[in-house]
Amino acid sequence: MSAYLKSHPTREGFFGAYGGAMLPPPLVPHFAAIREAYDRLSKSADFINELRYIRKHFQGRPTPISHLKNLSAICGGAQLYAKREDLNHTGAHKLNHCMAEGLLARFMGKTKLMAETGAGQHGVALATAAAYFGMECEIHMGEIDIAKEAPNVTRMKLLGATVVPVSFGGRSLKEAVDSCFMSYMSQADTALFAIGSVVGPHPFPMMVRDFQHVVGVEAREQFLDMTGELPDIVTACVGGGSNAMGIFSGFIDDDVALYGVEPCGTSSKLGEHAATITYGVDGEIHGFKTMVLKDAAGEPAPVHTIASGLDYPGVGPEHAYLHRTGRVNYTGADDKEALGAFFALSRHEGIIPALESAHAVAFAMREAKAHPGKSILINLSGRGDKDIDYVTENHGFGEGL
Ligand SMILES: Cc1ncc(COP(=O)(O)O)c(C=O)c1O
Repeated sequence: MSAYLKSHPTREGFFGAYGGAMLPPPLVPHFAAIREAYDRLSKSADFINELRYIRKHFQGRPTPISHLKNLSAICGGAQLYAKREDLNHTGAHKLNHCMAEGLLARFMGKTKLMAETGAGQHGVALATAAAYFGMECEIHMGEIDIAKEAPNVTRMKLLGATVVPVSFGGRSLKEAVDSCFMSYMSQADTALFAIGSVVGPHPFPMMVRDFQHVVGVEAREQFLDMTGELPDIVTACVGGGSNAMGIFSGFIDDDVALYGVEPCGTSSKLGEHAATITYGVDGEIHGFKTMVLKDAAGEPAPVHTIASGLDYPGVGPEHAYLHRTGRVNYTGADDKEALGAFFALSRHEGIIPALESAHAVAFAMREAKAHPGKSILINLSGRGDKDIDYVTENHGFGEGL
């Protein structure tokens, strides 16, 4: 295991000043039990073998790396490659941690999995895990996202999940987390709140990162095998930051530049983007310390991005830490650039990306010109089937982009 991963976070779940677990007293014993169960499971050969079996025979791992030859030629400069998490079962990286969280829930004797979802990918992945393990599933989703990501709502219901619409505040991802926490308080004895990213109180940022580490491990080996070298740059979109931590963790001890791409929405004005590291300040949200976009009253600010899965006014504590240490560079792509990348990857490579992943593609396309002869590996975190109705109804087929 990487020297970095072994030493981060601390036992209390801190990455430098960020992380920890600020919990309401009734949840303290439940999170302690999750920590203890994960400690035991992560050292268990049976758990590791069962997870490997699931990844191979159910998820379809390893996912490949594709050389984006046409897009590289169009952009001129660096060669672009994509780690194809869109080909992971259910169409995104989220299943990597959901199947492991399902195993954890079974080990703890829980009968229900519950979580928030933004784009619906985590909800679909968790509903899939619940079906696989024969558990109940409860997914909280903002009304705005329900309207925007209708195919994923149908998929969750087909998989047997109860979808709870969230109608307060901004009716988006932050409120879905609030709503799920409230519901979890009364059923923590029987349910596991399988948080959908590297956010939340300890141990979730560490645990979800460890479950997503498979992406980075595979990608490093595959890229070496394919090109004989490591990539010069690795990039991923950052909402909470799970797909980014998954791929970054495979290269964190290497001399490889890492770029997290935040959603810059429609402008740099508060409320019109969700670029937490770019514009945020230190604070606390949902029981952990991190960087936060705050309004004038010091509360989490409203956020906007075209990608529902990136629509969060906080970020995983490890990203805030890696920003402060300088090991990872954080940059952004706005709605228009992400849409441009969505159409470009579809048309020139035959891959329709999720709008979330399109942010990383947009950055790579922009950056390619500045790096002739270099290589950029994009974590293509998910496929865009969920987005095609929204995109074509609002932006046609990319005319003028
Ligand atoms: C395809 C895809 N990529 C990325 C994300 C953002 O999550 P994270 O930053 O945890 O990878 C989501 C969230 O729903 C998603 O569906």
